[in-house]
Amino acid sequence: MRMVEEGHVMDLKYVLEPKSIAVIGASKEPGKLGHVIFRNFIESGFQGNVYPINPNTEVILDTKCYPSVLEVPGSIDSAIIVVPAAFAGKVMQECAEKGIKGVVMITSGFAEVGNVKGEQEIAKIAKDNDIALVGPNCLGVINPATRVDSVFLPMYKLKRPKLGEIAFITQSGAVGSAVVDLAAEMGVGMSKFISYGNAAVINETHLLEYLKEDKKTKVIAAYVETTKEGRRFIDVAKEVTKEKPIILIKAGKTAGGTKAAASHTASMAGSAEVYSAAFKQARIIEVESLTDLFDYSKIFMQPPPKGSRIAVLTNGGGAGVLTADEIEKAGLKLAEFSKETKEDLRRKLPSYVNISNPLDLAGDADTERYKFALDLLMVDENIDAIIVILLFQTISLDSSVNKIVLSAAEQNRKPIIVLSIGGQFTNMNKQILESSGVPTYSSPAIAVNALSKLAWYYRCITQGVCGPL
Ligand code: COA
Repeated sequence: MRMVEEGHVMDLKYVLEPKSIAVIGASKEPGKLGHVIFRNFIESGFQGNVYPINPNTEVILDTKCYPSVLEVPGSIDSAIIVVPAAFAGKVMQECAEKGIKGVVMITSGFAEVGNVKGEQEIAKIAKDNDIALVGPNCLGVINPATRVDSVFLPMYKLKRPKLGEIAFITQSGAVGSAVVDLAAEMGVGMSKFISYGNAAVINETHLLEYLKEDKKTKVIAAYVETTKEGRRFIDVAKEVTKEKPIILIKAGKTAGGTKAAASHTASMAGSAEVYSAAFKQARIIEVESLTDLFDYSKIFMQPPPKGSRIAVLTNGGGAGVLTADEIEKAGLKLAEFSKETKEDLRRKLPSYVNISNPLDLAGDADTERYKFALDLLMVDENIDAIIVILLFQTISLDSSVNKIVLSAAEQNRKPIIVLSIGGQFTNMNKQILESSGVPTYSSPAIAVNALSKLAWYYRCITQGVCGPL
């Protein structure tokens, strides 16, 4: 997507979908960032050409090394710059001369430490030459679809997420790597990962514009310390949220946090209240913790609920009660099952099961009992979404129940989420569900709050009713 900024045209496709890449500062030394990035490209399965650039080395990982991008025969779409800040201006100028249109600059040592002049210099070269510059002082980008991966953390330490529909943009590299790690571990897919550091040229507003048009992205998760163009960010976000949700965490809200943000990415943070009010106006879902950012984003892979009537299916009474409490607190409603559903449930379920919502299938519930009940809840028009509580500690519940939940979820008829609290065996089962697209949660409050955001967003977008549920 082309973006015009003060008369300059920049296109992030060169950064995220390049056909050829140069790693400037690639090194033979396994401990250096330039080595890890180059190795990751070799090992990630990237289909295009990758050129290591280093004036002091001839071959890196069996690949011919060039002293400068200017020596590389043929064109290069994108460069990753990982040389010290003192050389960044020079190599940036060479990128411009070579006609490179996308740059990710990992290098630190710019505005965040007072080197404003150095940052302005590289930004000017980028803008004057229509280069989409991401960074400096960033972790890199990942596009699982094209296998572009400039993140400087080794793959054996940081697993990469599979291809999915969540785009994650982050000003902080460390926050980014933690969320990527979590997503990869749980099997949650990402469409794009972009760490944008100091945002000398490409900022969060440009990224929203790009991701709005990105067909592979269904939901945008963002960690933001500040917005470079506050008013325009909100205006763009307003347009984006008409089509896809934005889940955002704003860091640097306290006096201490604001000071930390300034020395982290040279951010000037604004008042928390002003930000929150503006986010609300743009229908951005603001969260307060990184786990919420992750937990709320993944629920948006579910189909839109028609309303806020929730059914709870459980094999443990207490977990059902806690969930019922949270449903009420969040402004959602416990669904009243239809007459037919109640009659069918009564006919087949043991007499010690109360036919009510939460539907407690009892401590001896097995996969068959869950299947019977879930099938009925799926077709009940009085139910808009289902929370399936699976307490795997019981003797009769085993992993075969996952198939039942997955096949219900695959119908894509209404949102289904799983609440499962426990240790190793539970986590193994949650991973199976999560990696197949069923969001799983460990806490009734988080599960219900995530569901309430989903219900709120679709009500707001489709009916224009954006107040609390
Ligand atoms: N073109 C290409 N390569 C060049 C070069 C040039 N003009 N000038 C130097 N190099 C080479 C060096 O020779 C070296 O390769 P070598 O190992 O073969 O000697 C390589 O580039 C790296 O340079 P070096 O001086 O060894 O730097 P470094 O690897 O120790 O550090 C950075 C470079 C970018 C990693 C460092 O300056 C930095 O910014 N670190 C922080 C990064 C960070 O935290 N970013 C934010 C994350 S959220």
